[in-house]
Amino acid sequence: MKLIRVRDYEDMSRKVANIIGAHIILKPTTVLGLATGTTPIGTYQRLIKGYEDGDLDFSQVRSYNLDEYRGLTHEDPQSYHYFMNDQLFNHVNIDPSNVHVPDGANPDADAACSEYDRMVEEAGYCDLQLLGIGRNGHIGFNEPDEVFSKGTHCVDLTQSTIEANARLFEREEDVPRQAYTMGTQTIMNARLIVMAVTGENKAQALHDMCYGPVTPQCPASILQLHPNVIVVADEAALSLCK
Ligand code: F6R
Repeated sequence: MKLIRVRDYEDMSRKVANIIGAHIILKPTTVLGLATGTTPIGTYQRLIKGYEDGDLDFSQVRSYNLDEYRGLTHEDPQSYHYFMNDQLFNHVNIDPSNVHVPDGANPDADAACSEYDRMVEEAGYCDLQLLGIGRNGHIGFNEPDEVFSKGTHCVDLTQSTIEANARLFEREEDVPRQAYTMGTQTIMNARLIVMAVTGENKAQALHDMCYGPVTPQCPASILQLHPNVIVVADEAALSLCK
């Protein structure tokens, strides 16, 4: 794992956007794996700026998001698809037909997940996968478990994830209890993984990811086995990594 130490969220956002931007410049047909949540918002703002400044061209980029709540359509303002449109896709020249998010509106979980796996595989998997980490070590919605997941699958969200995500909903009861997520094997198939982490509340998860045993109890720990991971983290997140 390569570690890039940053000062704070702004610094992290700039550096992660520079890594993604450089990748797109070097390979205009980049297949991006993208995440939602608070972590990548600043990165997406910088990517939009890169597009507006004429430095970045998304016209041939394809994107595959990590996850989506089960039961939400892509027009639902709480859906991850809506979030991505709002935070990035509506503001750059990506072709909407090149944007992929698991179909949360498909109640047939097996069909929705196998269709998503087929699409990611057909794209040759991601060139660059952007990840955030949950406080319990989850990546995508791969929660602590007895085994590492493989392909896209339907998960029951843990109480800690429901509570963490409740800030984006009016009431905790409104947070969907299930999601479709790319599996850890699919994430590991990406050629480059960029993990962005800031804040003290992620310090334990980051420590366990880098120095703990490789175990599905901390899904992110599997990244220790990937040959090409860049961790971009601030001092608060690194506070337990002495
Ligand atoms: C979201 C996702 C999640 C988040 C993680 C961190 O697509 O994959 O694993 O990356 O929950 O979320 P934030 O960035 O909100 O702290």
